[in-house]
Amino acid sequence: MDKNAIDALLRKIESTEKDSGNPRVQAIVNRIVRDLFVTIDEFDIQPHEFWSAMSYLTEAGRSGEYGLIAAGLGFEHFLDLRTDEEEARQGVAGGTPRTIEGPLYVAGAPESLGSARLDQDEQPGEVLFMGGQVRGADGKPLPGALVEVWHANHLGGYSFFDPGQTAYNLRRTIRTDADGRYRFRSKVPVGYSVPPGGATDKLLTLLGRHGTRPAHIHFFVTAPDHRKLTTQINIEGDPYLWDDFAFATREGLVPPLVKVTDPARLRAHEVDAPFYAIEFDFDLHARRDGLPPDHVERAHFSA
Ligand SMILES: [Fe+2]
Repeated sequence: MDKNAIDALLRKIESTEKDSGNPRVQAIVNRIVRDLFVTIDEFDIQPHEFWSAMSYLTEAGRSGEYGLIAAGLGFEHFLDLRTDEEEARQGVAGGTPRTIEGPLYVAGAPESLGSARLDQDEQPGEVLFMGGQVRGADGKPLPGALVEVWHANHLGGYSFFDPGQTAYNLRRTIRTDADGRYRFRSKVPVGYSVPPGGATDKLLTLLGRHGTRPAHIHFFVTAPDHRKLTTQINIEGDPYLWDDFAFATREGLVPPLVKVTDPARLRAHEVDAPFYAIEFDFDLHARRDGLPPDHVERAHFSA
């Protein structure tokens, strides 16, 4: 199509906008519409293809899969990279890397001091003990920091989203002890895939991609005067470790997974079979003015 004709239509649309509108929304929507007009023209998108895309978006919205689609198309990781770059520009370096939150956090998990057990439902799997220290920018331990942790069960499901689990199974909030330490007992999570046949799955299939995440554990770590850390650790050895459909695996977030068989340690942990152990410390950055927001406002499932 004649580029002048596209420009003329865009100008006509924009001329209907009033000063009462929101200038930022106007500028962004105008840009997106322009880009889509050009895309439709460049790929000679037919009317039935356009309406098929509209139906797809409606279905994706109804099924609540936009969070998965945003992760799968790399948007969530892209936002992390932009925040990293802005922090680096402002001299924030080191610390535990951030990575995507994902769409499955639920607030209000039971809180305990120092340690917690996450697997409240009976479930198969290897016992996992994970623990470490939360430290501030000066390397000193942070007592009273909050470690919010959530992960999937042996079938890759999350409580509240999986009707087979009780409320808050595999979700806890642990306040670090006087030494800044946290510790929990759980089951080693497994990786999971997007819902088969769902909107995300359909899109990824057409893109020739898989929709699998390697096994991981999610964290929010917060402490007064420090930047909130949103991150995950991965379970070492997962075949999808560096092939995450959500691009969330990062250097520094893959701690060793150690199998413990020593009978004395089994007794000390009150288990009668070998278990897995992960040691992982969280290093936070000091809060200061001018840095990009550390707490991301986002709609969550409310329990
Ligand atoms: Fe997850």
